[in-house]
Amino acid sequence: MLEINNLSFSYPDGSRALEDINMTLPREHILAVLGESGSGKTTLLMCIGRFLQPRRGSIAIDGEDISGIEHREFRRRIGIVFQQLYLFPHLTVLENMMLAPEKVLRQPKKEARRESLDTIGRLGIGELGDKYPSQISGGQAQRAAIARALVLKPSYLLLDEPTSALDLNTTREFGRWLVELKETTTFVIVTHDVPFAEKTAGSGFLMADGRLRSVGTLPEILKAIDHHSF
Ligand SMILES: Nc1ncnc2c1ncn2[C@@H]1O[C@H](COP(=O)(O)OP(=O)(O)OP(=O)(O)O)[C@@H](O)[C@H]1O
Ligand SMILES: [Mg+2]
Repeated sequence: MLEINNLSFSYPDGSRALEDINMTLPREHILAVLGESGSGKTTLLMCIGRFLQPRRGSIAIDGEDISGIEHREFRRRIGIVFQQLYLFPHLTVLENMMLAPEKVLRQPKKEARRESLDTIGRLGIGELGDKYPSQISGGQAQRAAIARALVLKPSYLLLDEPTSALDLNTTREFGRWLVELKETTTFVIVTHDVPFAEKTAGSGFLMADGRLRSVGTLPEILKAIDHHSF
């Protein structure tokens, strides 16, 4: 379980992006984070992923404060796929993927390769393994970045707008795949894609102006959105 207590964050220029957030993110769920642009969703993921240091408050995974967890151990517990994908341009899709299992899990190359191939196969991009990021489409790169994060089988995977470059069919397939995987990995999905959230997420959070406005099932969250007429 992930627990966030009294989390506040301000950017160096003083803009207050998160204000006193309290959240519980149980395992074996798909959790959607909704909210209008600028409401703090990406900032929240960056704090959970330890890319930003909160001004106040704490984040704990299974009772352990994330700030004290050793780097490699942290990476196998919490993964993150950014909106900008950051695939290494000088490595093929497969090499991009094998990097984490080799470095973080210390897997032998052969095993890392087998698992990476299996993962891209399941994401329907098996044929892209030997391509470089500059040779593939935006949607394919998005799937490659998600596959790269999933190959570590993290307890939590934070996804920032994962369907923004996917076509309708791939979005549907992707949603079904997340549902299949949710017993191993809990997904926290920041999205503006309401139909996708409705189909895949059991519950969600609504952010507004850096605050947590509402917590509940997807229908409840959507009702709250209507109510606040964002
Ligand atoms: N690097 C930065 N420096 C200063 N302010 C920032 C920075 N990044 C974001 N902000 C501000 O912090 C607030 C929250 O931004 P954030 O990117 O978390 O929003 P978001 O909910 O992810 O929006 P979107 O849906 O557009 O991606 C906004 O007011 C934004 O302008
Ligand atoms: Mg964002």
